[in-house]
Amino acid sequence: MASEHAYRSKRIRSLAQLVQFYHWRVKGPLFGVLHPLFGELYAALVDYSDNVAERIAQLGGVVPWRVPNPLPPSESDGSILAKDCGKQAQQFGSRAYAAMEALQGNDRVFLAKLEELQGGVEKLVWQIEQHATR
Ligand SMILES: [Fe+2]
Repeated sequence: MASEHAYRSKRIRSLAQLVQFYHWRVKGPLFGVLHPLFGELYAALVDYSDNVAERIAQLGGVVPWRVPNPLPPSESDGSILAKDCGKQAQQFGSRAYAAMEALQGNDRVFLAKLEELQGGVEKLVWQIEQHATR
């Protein structure tokens, strides 16, 4: 089960790295709204990964050091970054739900915490997506 969390830990940190880059990269008329939202989402993902990493340690596992490097966006336009963020977060979310389902019979205590963290991330992503190109 620690290995399940270890996989999660890598994915969260990879997404966090990408979102931090959106936070730095965003320019244009949406800067004022998206810069802080990307910052908040980054902070939520760091908190998420911290909780997962600590759970891995509690279970006697080893927190993975290497994290897959996400491909940074070349765009700086807010609405394009918001759309990209939504897409990345959706891919992350569907894997997160599959992982949470796998935990139903195993790590149920931690499952509630994961759901809470995932919910916080989704709320911010939803706010960001309101500014995405259609
Ligand atoms: Fe910042």
